Amino acid sequence: MRGTEARHEAQVAFSNVGMSFGRREVFRSLSCGFPAGKLSVILGGSGSGKSTMLRLMGGLVRPSSGTIRVADTDVTTLSESRLFEVRQKLGMMFQGGALLDALTVFDNLALPLRERADMSEAEIADLVHARLEAVGLADVDDLLPGQLSGGMVKRVAVARATMMQPAILLCDEPFSGLDPISAARIERLLLGINRDHGITVILVSHSVASTLRMADHVLILLPDGPIEGSPTTLASATDPRVRAFLGGEVDETLIGGGEDPVPSGLLS
Ligand SMILES: Nc1ncnc2c1ncn2[C@@H]1O[C@H](COP(=O)(O)OP(=O)(O)OP(=O)(O)O)[C@@H](O)[C@H]1O
Ligand SMILES: [Mg+2]
Repeated sequence: MRGTEARHEAQVAFSNVGMSFGRREVFRSLSCGFPAGKLSVILGGSGSGKSTMLRLMGGLVRPSSGTIRVADTDVTTLSESRLFEVRQKLGMMFQGGALLDALTVFDNLALPLRERADMSEAEIADLVHARLEAVGLADVDDLLPGQLSGGMVKRVAVARATMMQPAILLCDEPFSGLDPISAARIERLLLGINRDHGITVILVSHSVASTLRMADHVLILLPDGPIEGSPTTLASATDPRVRAFLGGEVDETLIGGGEDPVPSGLLS
């Protein structure tokens, strides 16, 4: 099967997923799906479980019940070695960047290529620089992560997640903390990855505006279960919780979610 065909089949589905950290229950019975080849956005209050969903998809944490299918494989019961195979299909960008502190920016980006691909150092350098340019960074090769600003870490992390042309790209809050121009550039990059290469993209975001612009599919994590739909369906929804979320009229009693209140500025 050719690579592009394999990518179009990629998809992620949660069925009756229960997830707890100790006595803290994050999901009781979460069922939802992320369509193949589409760009999906997960919205939800702080602490509602958005990052946990991405970590469940990558098999970094395991649910207490239910199944999670990633590209036709149930990742909930896989051994670590089989999980490694599934992770080869995933590009993951974590909320805090998760760059390797002892490696330069260049080496952070080159690492997955050196480990997995049969490429010359010159080819690797070309690709690293193309990806850095795509996120609007130049002359950062020799900097260590500790020498980057928060927004630069975020952009390097997005660049790194896209190094291998994954079948599924997971990004946790790729826009937060970025100036509008950098955010717009990342938005274009992620849209291009999805539209031009057919890669399934799943984003966690607090930005309702960019979500409505970009998404084919939106999932809103609410305390009594998720609501899914296209941006147009959700924008015309009458459900007060959806309207509260998308309109930025934040009422914690409607959207709930964790211990931290969501500042309304995050939702604009
Ligand atoms: N490793 C962990 N150990 C214990 N509890 C955890 C762990 N990771 C997450 N949690 C808890 O799970 C819940 C969901 O956390 P998660 O990070 O998924 O939220 P989130 O929706 O991504 O929030 P935010 O918008 O603030 O990033 C929170 O109550 C959090 O305290
Ligand atoms: Mg999070």
